[in-house]
Amino acid sequence: MINFVGTPRMETEQLILRKMNSNDTQSVFDHWISDERVTDNRINAAHKSISQTIERVEKIVSGYETKDFCYWGIELKASGDLIGEIDLYDFDPSTGNCEVSYSIGYQWWNQGYGTEALRAVVDFGFRDMNIHKISAAHNTDNPASGKIMGKVGMIQEGIIRDMIRNSKNQYKDCAVWGILQNDYLKKV
Ligand SMILES: CC(C)(COP(=O)(O)OP(=O)(O)OC[C@H]1O[C@@H](n2cnc3c(N)ncnc32)[C@H](O)[C@@H]1OP(=O)(O)O)[C@@H](O)C(=O)NCCC(=O)NCCS
Repeated sequence: MINFVGTPRMETEQLILRKMNSNDTQSVFDHWISDERVTDNRINAAHKSISQTIERVEKIVSGYETKDFCYWGIELKASGDLIGEIDLYDFDPSTGNCEVSYSIGYQWWNQGYGTEALRAVVDFGFRDMNIHKISAAHNTDNPASGKIMGKVGMIQEGIIRDMIRNSKNQYKDCAVWGILQNDYLKKV
């Protein structure tokens, strides 16, 4: 059974993973959610106005009222900047499985932060929440996302053709990845 404990603060070498709050709204907008270089790799379109982000952050903050909401802002220790977000979602009580998704602001790409955040959340999901399997999918034209999945021990299970249609009405093939709790705990 999944052990829901909400969204606890976690620290890694370079990052703090923490709950978001309304003071983060401008950073969310400026750093990733209005930037098509980031959002083109996700399903939802880039925000055009801060009012969309205010609504989004309000929804996240109200999500924290329930224990089964696991949504972290990613803060860079060195600068205090909020550089991205990562969440566990789609919890399936019948299997104990869930999904993970994440975004890092473009100016912070390729500095190891995505891997560090994903590693922390996968570890938390298996050790603290007793998740059975964590899965994720990335567009095949977004190999960096697959790279970080592989780096934390996830295995590519296949390619699903036209798995999503994005906000620009483009169908995308997606690579589906997963990692099992048993395999993870045996290795670490
Ligand atoms: C995917 C994402 C989170 C990665 O974050 P990040 O902080 O840049 O990740 P890291 O720096 O830890 O690792 C990126 C890896 O991808 C590799 N990479 C980058 N571009 C690549 C490319 N075009 N092809 C192959 N590998 C690539 C980097 O070299 C690095 O691997 P390395 O450490 O072995 O050199 C970030 O690119 C992002 O937010 N993208 C937009 C949103 C998104 O794709 N979300 C996930 C949807 S499934």
